[in-house]
Amino acid sequence: MSTRSLNILLTGGTGYIGSHTAVVLQEAGHRVFIYDNYCNSDPAVAQTLQKITGQPFKTIEGDIRNTDLLQKTLETNHIDAVIHFAGLKAVGESATIPVEYYANNVQGTISLLQAMQAASHRPRTLVFSSSATVYGDPQYLPIDESHPTAATNPYGRTKLHIEEILRDLAKSDVSWRIACLRYFNPVGAHVSGLIGENPNGIPNNLMPFVAQVAVGKLKQLNVFGNDYDTPDGTGVRDYIHVMDLAEGHLAALNYLGAALAAEVVTNTETQTHTGLHTFNLGTGCGYSVLEMIQAFEAASAKAVPFLIAPRRAGDIASCYASTTLAAEQLGWTAKRDLKAMCESSWHFQQKAAASAGSNSNTTAGA
Ligand code: NAD
Ligand code: UFG
Repeated sequence: MSTRSLNILLTGGTGYIGSHTAVVLQEAGHRVFIYDNYCNSDPAVAQTLQKITGQPFKTIEGDIRNTDLLQKTLETNHIDAVIHFAGLKAVGESATIPVEYYANNVQGTISLLQAMQAASHRPRTLVFSSSATVYGDPQYLPIDESHPTAATNPYGRTKLHIEEILRDLAKSDVSWRIACLRYFNPVGAHVSGLIGENPNGIPNNLMPFVAQVAVGKLKQLNVFGNDYDTPDGTGVRDYIHVMDLAEGHLAALNYLGAALAAEVVTNTETQTHTGLHTFNLGTGCGYSVLEMIQAFEAASAKAVPFLIAPRRAGDIASCYASTTLAAEQLGWTAKRDLKAMCESSWHFQQKAAASAGSNSNTTAGA
């Protein structure tokens, strides 16, 4: 492992996954810079991160489509590597406002790449937040990285388009080192309970919805379908603890050899990998909606009332990852179990509810 301390820019770094990754990177000795327009996060998250790590975080308020500001940010802070989280991510909304999604996600990524190309010190290391949604309806399970891609909604297509752009870029210029990380279903929160997932409005995703029912903010959960071809008829997903996911980003940076790319390194065991590399980040285990409800009830000692509702349009029966490639190449596997996911999510939810009740600023990640 590299001992060189890097300057790492996180676009979307105050969001749910970015904020947890910021903690992991800072604790690994790197310097983290956050670039966010706060369209789905709270600027106060930066102070919360400082509280968790005891170190200040430099934040830059800006949109990723502002290429000049990005270039200036890269140069002024001598950024060695970028982790690109910024993006819009609601599947349903993407079908309603597709142009916004393509403009924000695809155009925003092109702007970031242009800024990296224009920056005088030539930063060429990039980790990109892709998604398991690029696989569409699985043809086989577990899903490995060579499974065909077939996104079924505009959000998923933005991820696929970006992956293609990155592949072309890596082919055109061999100095790039790029990792596309296809996340499965991130859940849970940092052990402090100070950052976590707290979406605006009614949550779209299962876990934040369940947590809000348990805390009494929402009355009951709708379980979208119990007639799938799964052991109990409800949808099966690969839920991964957000801290495991965050650690996957550190493993990807080490794999790319970001420190060697920055040309000052004290440990020659570090490998460098140029080109584009794609990895699933999941646990390899699938849990059904009913199993998730039971696990959350056990962790919170609260009832989660639910109703069986019709299937949600676009949902698939089962989805879980093959984790072999990440284990072999990155030396990374998810370590935290379902109990830890539910307990940390509940801890965060209780703190968020208490903080909202006392009218103070939310410290939520997203
Ligand atoms: P999030 O919404 O919590 O974080 C995204 C952050 O990006 C937010 O802080 C938002 O304010 C910022 N942002 C959005 N557009 C921006 C722009 N144009 N300029 C600057 N900042 C901008 O989402 P998250 O769950 O942390 O997801 C991070 C990334 O991972 C996203 O790209 C998402 O598509 C991807 N992803 C998420 C999931 C999931 O279930 N959470 C699954 C697969 C992939
Ligand atoms: N579900 C319910 N009730 C709810 C919400 C969800 O029963 O209120 C069910 C869904 O039908 C599905 C499971 O819970 O079976 C998980 O649903 P989520 O919405 O939490 O997650 P998805 O797998 O549908 O999608 C998420 C993100 C995508 C990302 C994908 C990666 O929303 O952006 O994980 O696998 F691409």
